[in-house]
Amino acid sequence: MRKPMMAGNWKMNMTVAEALDLARQINQLVGDTTVVEQLLCPPSVCLHPLKATTTGMPFALGAQNCHWQDSGAFTGEISPPMLRGLADYVIIGHSERRQLFGETDETVNKKTRAALANQLIPVVCVGESLEQNERGETTAIITAQVQAALEGLSADQVQSLVIAYEPIWAIGTGRAATAQTAGEICGLVRSILHDMHGAPVAAATRILYGGSTKPDNIGAIMEQPDIDGALIGGASLEAGSYAEMVKITAEPYSG
Ligand code: PGA
Repeated sequence: MRKPMMAGNWKMNMTVAEALDLARQINQLVGDTTVVEQLLCPPSVCLHPLKATTTGMPFALGAQNCHWQDSGAFTGEISPPMLRGLADYVIIGHSERRQLFGETDETVNKKTRAALANQLIPVVCVGESLEQNERGETTAIITAQVQAALEGLSADQVQSLVIAYEPIWAIGTGRAATAQTAGEICGLVRSILHDMHGAPVAAATRILYGGSTKPDNIGAIMEQPDIDGALIGGASLEAGSYAEMVKITAEPYSG
């Protein structure tokens, strides 16, 4: 069974002090839900302080990016071995990285392999732009991105990672995909996994939806059979809304 996940992508927000405060608030509001995996992805400088302070709190921690080399002359970059022990997960290929920092399907694949080699679980992001969507290219784009990101990985590696479908037109716009569309594209991602690695891998791999998720729409999104959780931007910066989303997701599993 795939454990549902609510992953907060804090992006370039939160000082260390603010991050610690937010984590404490979330912990108080959510209580001890264990049926939903809570993943917090703060800026990298907050990982160590959060790791030290959130012991005993039910969070996994994730980085928002990593390089694919272990070390070297790459000013400003952070390597997978550096994250090991501080983070459990690492977001790879977020559309902001692809659009603003020149990441390609090739670098996404290199980073995914490097993360796995260092016991970090990749959260691999894929998604089409508004123009691609309007031209009817969504299926082709998502297929190409998923295949390229996972190229060369073993079946075991694929089922250990997480894929996030995040249509670019839905990120930070307040215009989420409908639950039905989100469910269909996450179903497409699952069928690509099936074609690449067979039914057991497709059934085991967690697939998230991301893009303007909030307490109002998370219930309908989580009803989609192929959606296992959300990668949450804006709504994860507010303890109340993130906690609410965890609770709504936990409801069908409790009691
Ligand atoms: P959003 O961001 O929830 O603010 O739309 C999602 C993301 O970029 O991961």
